Amino acid sequence: MRIEIGALDTLPRDRGVRVTFGEERIALFRIGDEVFAIGDRCSHAEASLAEGEVFDHEVECPRHGSEFDLRTGKALSLPATMPVPTYEVLVEDGLVYLNWEPE
Ligand code: FES
Repeated sequence: MRIEIGALDTLPRDRGVRVTFGEERIALFRIGDEVFAIGDRCSHAEASLAEGEVFDHEVECPRHGSEFDLRTGKALSLPATMPVPTYEVLVEDGLVYLNWEPE
């Protein structure tokens, strides 16, 4: 399912924005003119990755500090060991679209 998120220019740079679809929480991050989408829930415990600090293409979990790669969802540092899901994002004509399939 392709979902229009809005204009690229409305997304803040280098910090997360949380969007929700039912029970699903997804964190969007604008890095330059690219946008990355990962699961908002940290894979270690309950924390919102959209609220984490962004460094280059990584976000630091605000609760215990694990870092996740925004491109792959991979956990880069402990205590998290499991990845978070990633989602395809398209930017066309200045609009951001998320490819998301409900489970
Ligand atoms: S909740 Fe994210 S590292 Fe612990």
